[in-house]
Amino acid sequence: MTKKLLFLSALCLSAFSGLQAQTRLNLDLTKGVNVSPKLYGLMTEEINHSYDGGLYAELIRNRVFKDNPNQPEGWSVVQDGDSKASIQLIGADPANVPFDQGRNAINAALTTCLKLTVSQANGNRTGIANNGFWGIPVTPSTTYRCSFYIKTGTVNFPRGNRPDAAPPATAVTEDGPGIINISLESTDGKTIYARGTINLEKSTYWKKHELTITTAANIKPTADARFVISSTRTGTYYFNLVSLFPPTYKNRPNGNRIDLMQMMADMKPTFLRFPGGNFLEGPYLGDAFPWKTTLGLLEQRPGHTGSWGYRASDGMGLLEFLEWCEDLKMEPLLAVFAGYSLRGDHIDAGPLLEPYIKDALDEIEYCIGDTKTYWGAKRAADGHPAPFKLTDIEIGNEDWFDRSHSYDGRFKQFQAAIKAKYPQLRCISTIESYKPDKVTSVKPEMVDEHYYQSAWQMEEDAAKYDSYDRATSPKIFVGEWATREGAPTTNLNAALGDAAWMTGMERNSDLVERSCYAPLFVNVNQAGNGQPKAWQWDSDLIGYTALKSYGSPSYYVQKMFGSYLGTKVVPITAENAPLRKPAVKDTAGISHWPANARRPKAERPALFFVCTQDAKNVYLKVVNTDDMAREIDISLKGGDVAANGTLVVLKGDKPEDTNTIDEPTKIVPVTSTITGLGRSFKHTFQPYSVNVIRLSKRK
Ligand code: AHR
Repeated sequence: MTKKLLFLSALCLSAFSGLQAQTRLNLDLTKGVNVSPKLYGLMTEEINHSYDGGLYAELIRNRVFKDNPNQPEGWSVVQDGDSKASIQLIGADPANVPFDQGRNAINAALTTCLKLTVSQANGNRTGIANNGFWGIPVTPSTTYRCSFYIKTGTVNFPRGNRPDAAPPATAVTEDGPGIINISLESTDGKTIYARGTINLEKSTYWKKHELTITTAANIKPTADARFVISSTRTGTYYFNLVSLFPPTYKNRPNGNRIDLMQMMADMKPTFLRFPGGNFLEGPYLGDAFPWKTTLGLLEQRPGHTGSWGYRASDGMGLLEFLEWCEDLKMEPLLAVFAGYSLRGDHIDAGPLLEPYIKDALDEIEYCIGDTKTYWGAKRAADGHPAPFKLTDIEIGNEDWFDRSHSYDGRFKQFQAAIKAKYPQLRCISTIESYKPDKVTSVKPEMVDEHYYQSAWQMEEDAAKYDSYDRATSPKIFVGEWATREGAPTTNLNAALGDAAWMTGMERNSDLVERSCYAPLFVNVNQAGNGQPKAWQWDSDLIGYTALKSYGSPSYYVQKMFGSYLGTKVVPITAENAPLRKPAVKDTAGISHWPANARRPKAERPALFFVCTQDAKNVYLKVVNTDDMAREIDISLKGGDVAANGTLVVLKGDKPEDTNTIDEPTKIVPVTSTITGLGRSFKHTFQPYSVNVIRLSKRK
């Protein structure tokens, strides 16, 4: 190479390194606002089979036969050999319940049952089978709790008919009573994993039977299984409230899946926003979350329509939500129905809204009233005398969709009534614009803002709260947000967008008091075996089937941010922070609302960072969204740290990398010891990475 060429190359290199001037982060440990102790929580609702076929551990689909009035969805008839049998939905004959059965009686809530008619057995097995929610999980040495109502006899009145209607035209030999078999078996019936029996007496009265069945130690885990109740005799049998539970978290009888509860516990969430989301509202006014019929015995829970195309069993009822909070040491954040439903119906403020306000006050009393109150006493009777703790109540959900603009009046009426009875509670508005020229005229104490955006949008918006006016803005609750890239669960690019966005919330957590990602759960089963695709919403946090579960890259970002959080924000001044140009795919973006659609800016930051501290540690989080490694000089003012610290890194080779049910741990955080730390040190942050450095303070 000639001297001239060498000189030119050197010039180019120096020009290049001039462009890439050393990035510096200066951390000032002497200043900083407080971190909100409730910054990171969870948002939940019945979507994507989050509860039925998800967290709620019940394994029987359509256990009270109300999912579809036209056919016994989830159920099939078993007819071994040359046996002949049929199944049919039928009125559950609540009038036929003797009063002396007390707590075990099926009451008027369960108005449908399943009738099994066996006209020919010849010693062969006939019965009813349930395939669960995309299978039933069978694991070795596991004890399952089964229960069901059954009756037999000649009483036969088609759905809707009176019990005294004429008997059926086709007579059946009534030799029904005797041994009834219960089994957990392969879907082809060839392998029995666990079995039990009951002795059925002849009775036209409902009787509840309960038993446990246990699998052997040597079976292979599978979800290719069904639950069968069968006999080898002819007869007519009626079934209702058929239930099967595996072991549950903390052994709660009506409890939750252990793996999913543990995954949430690992995120260290501080609150739970429930019961929705759209699930709070329901399609029509009568479909709002019916908290009163989600209480008490399962026999009293008819379920309800739901908002995501399937019926909710309401096994996950109001008390179960509260106990879920108790189990994970979270504060409940209750949203109350505020008179607006998804299809646009609303109740105007004024006298017509009063019953809805009374209902919300009753619901709050159930949560926090002492046992001398009506609803506090009901909670005690349901097994939980101690009141729960509420701080914030959300009034409705996403009421900016209400084109009648009735929310201003509705919010004010709810807030006035709640404050009159519970002055300590703050009321959260679901509309962010409180200014006089916008839709609400009072400044709420807190507003719930929702963001569903692409990664580049989240990155562009990450500094959004830096400029909010603290004197005029209400406190912010980011009650739903997610970077929507990847399906059914998010990919690494989404996790980078999430992490960038979270640096902004954390830095501004004097203003952003609470935040929660949504949706939390997704059952990842595609359509099959007579069941539809399990999910309605792409880009979710935690995925599962009947047998397995996994965290998306976004889940691990949540876990990292929740686990490494101080009590004070450490202000950072950055020098030479690099910018990056939009990627080719950063076009109109994936937007939940058209209002969010926009074109990317010419440049946005490549790195995002936030730092917090507590008495012992400093927690520095750095997100490198770029395709190149970045070396950063880091200096600390006002404190010294030990040379060794902890480094946690989540990274991948390309933004589309992801975790799946079959490859659940492709993108997971790796924890190691980092050395060479001090008042001033350097670190190189890998491409496409989310990093936490925990530095230990020297005394
Ligand atoms: O999180 C999914 C849905 O998005 C919620 O139910 C609703 O509040 C929002 O529109």
